[in-house]
Formats: sequence, C-alpha cells, structure tokens
Amino acid sequence: MHFNNASPLVVQINGNYLKLKAGYLFPEIARRVKAFKDANPEADLIRLGIGDVTEPLPRSCRDAMKSAIDELGTEDGFRGYGPEQGYVWLRDQIAEFDFKQRGCDVSAEEIFISDGSKCDSSNILDILGSGNRIAVTDPVYPVYVDSNVMAGHTGGLSNSGQYVGLSYLPLSATNGFKAPLPKDQVDLIYLCFPNNPTGAVASKQELARWVDYAKSNDALILFDAAYESFIQDEDIPHSIYEIDGARECAIEFRSFSKNAGFTGTRCAFTVLPKTLRGTTDNGEKIDLWSLWNRRQSTKFNGVSYIVQRGAAAIYSQEGRAQVKGLVNFYMENASIIRNNLSECGLEVYGGEHAPYVWLKTPEGMESWEFFDFLLGKANVVGTPGSGFGFAGEGYFRLSAFNSRLNVEKAMKRISSIYST
Ligand code: MLT
Repeated sequence: MHFNNASPLVVQINGNYLKLKAGYLFPEIARRVKAFKDANPEADLIRLGIGDVTEPLPRSCRDAMKSAIDELGTEDGFRGYGPEQGYVWLRDQIAEFDFKQRGCDVSAEEIFISDGSKCDSSNILDILGSGNRIAVTDPVYPVYVDSNVMAGHTGGLSNSGQYVGLSYLPLSATNGFKAPLPKDQVDLIYLCFPNNPTGAVASKQELARWVDYAKSNDALILFDAAYESFIQDEDIPHSIYEIDGARECAIEFRSFSKNAGFTGTRCAFTVLPKTLRGTTDNGEKIDLWSLWNRRQSTKFNGVSYIVQRGAAAIYSQEGRAQVKGLVNFYMENASIIRNNLSECGLEVYGGEHAPYVWLKTPEGMESWEFFDFLLGKANVVGTPGSGFGFAGEGYFRLSAFNSRLNVEKAMKRISSIYST
C-alpha cells in the first residue's frame, strides 16, 4: 500500500483544545513523578496527590457484584442493555437514603445513574447554550474550566493564567475559602462542597445565599457534592436540595468513588429536578430534565448491571456500616495529616469535613517549587495549588486517601524536615 506523504489531512479539529494548558493536572503530576522515579529508582514514594482511594471495596458491594455476575450467567437472569437512566431499584434507594431521609424532595425519576461525576459535570454542557456567562471559583476543580474551554465557552488563556470570558470568584484564607457572590451577573455557577481542593464546607445559610442569587438572576447552579459523605457535622448540608428553592435553580452531582471506593469500579449519579427550566434563543422556557434525558438516551448506554448492583448494596444496612467505616478511616488520616502539619508550624485548612488538607506553602515557596521540595526531601507526592487555578498559587493539597502506614510514614518524613 502506498501512502502519499504529500497529501495533508484536511479534517478540522476542535481548535478550542489548543487554548488548554498543556496537560491535565494529574497526568502532569504523574509525568513529573515518573521522571523523579526514573532518576531515583530507590526512592520509596508516598502518593498523596490525586484523590484516589486505596482501601478495598466494601464486602457487601463485592458480594452483590459476584451474585450479579452469576445471575447474568443464567437464562432467566441474563440482561442486555439496561435503562440509560439507571435501574429503578438503585434510583429508589438513592432517593430514599440520600434525599428523602434528609428532608429533600427528590424523586427516583430525577436521578440519573452514570459512570462518574467528572463525566457528568462536563457532559451537562451538551444541554446548555454557548452564550451563558460562567462563574467558577479560583482555585477550582480543573474539569469545570477545561470542559468549558473545550466547548468554546471561553477566550484564550490570559497572562495571569485565567481564561478570558470566565468570571473567577477568588478563594483565600481571608474569605475562609468561601466564594463571594459574583460582581457581574452570571448564568451558570459551579459550586463544590465539601470543596475540592480546599476542603471548605458551606453552611445552610451560605448555600441559601447562592440559591437566592441564582433565583433572582435566573442562573443555574452546578453543585458538585462528590465529597458529601465526609461531612462530620450534622448541621452542614449534604445536598443543595436541603435549601428551599434549590429545585428551581440547581443540578447536583454525586459519586460513589470516594465514599465506597468506586474510583475504578465507576458509578455516580446526577440529580436533575423536573422543576428546572432553561431558555431558548427566543425566550421560550424549556425543561432541562427532558433535554438531559434525551442526551443520556442518545449518548449513553448506562452503567453495567453488575456495578449498579454493587452500588445498590451500599444502601443495605451492612453496606452503610462498611461505607461509614471507610469514610471514618480516611477522615482519621485527614486528621493525622492536619495535626502533623500544624505541629510543623504550617498553615493548614480543610481536612475536617473533606478528605483533602489544603496548606499554605512555607517560606513563600511557589506551589510547584514546594511540590519538588517535598518530592525530593520526603519522597511525598502532593498536588500544587496552582494546578487548581491562579489563586491556588502558594498553596498545596494533600489527599487523605492512602493506607494508615503510608500516611504516618509521610507525616514522619515531613516532620523530620521541619524539626531540623
Ligand atoms: C482529585 O484528586 O482532585 C480527584 O481525584 C479528582 C477526581 O475525582 O476526578
């Protein structure tokens, strides 16, 4: 076969991808860590960077998945395509335990099972127009920003490292990492509580401010609650639907990744109330539920039966106890990290209702400088705050997702740097 090297490929690319910063944050960290490991093969690295779970899947989930496999091996139990929205027995459990029992008015029909809240928080842009004014916090989970860049909702990257056209709401120690309301009117607001990366949480009153803002400005809140199960204080809301009026202005993203160890198994869900409306170009009001349902039916074939059975087992009595055990385990790690870093004299935030500890880099170091410092001196991998945005510069995130042995070892190594 002959290839004509002279003939150029003329297919057009999505040029918005060229506006993106070179690499997504976590692969970039992995690249740097690999380079370090290649140069220092004997280094015993401890990874507290990406928030990936380490503890085994709960027994009840494993048992349910094994039975589901056997069921699929029988004439009667075999299943092909499932409902794109997820099986009703899983959606019913979620509606009951995650919402009704917390006083939230969310029906099973408003819950869409998916393979991840990262995917859903990007995919949701499919049903939203391109003229929306968008607000994100800074620092922020990079997926919200990058997915808008890819969709062509922003201009290029400015010299300050922010994308032209986005409204950035700065988070800092001064505002307690609680975003101020937007100064300019916006249509779409991304909120994440408990927050990734800062670990901050929002009270009912604080969330009510956002719901009021959204309702009075006809804005939509995209509420990422992937870390809600790490909340330790009964008064802190787990869902935005604990706030009156949120059904008219918010979509919520949830995940089984971090609480039940499903980062590899993949199962999550999105709540889209039937009361949500968006506007067409000629001002007609259209319900968003129907658009999302249409989108999912067309582009998604659902999560596997086996995995959904595993997820449903989370809501059994044993499942709930096992998940609580996992959450408690990671939160004990978070408190070990918090206490040790504080004893080292570092300025520490988060880690009380979230599996992330957010710290001010010492001696004015830049985030990547501290990354290299910690990697070199303690062989500990963390996440540079600047990777989450311009305002994250000078901060650093440590994840509590690791074995107790590794967390204790990492803290011992860091303590020894600061005690000398
Ligand atoms: C993180 O480390 O921020 C998380 O792993 C991100 C994610 O869940 O995608």
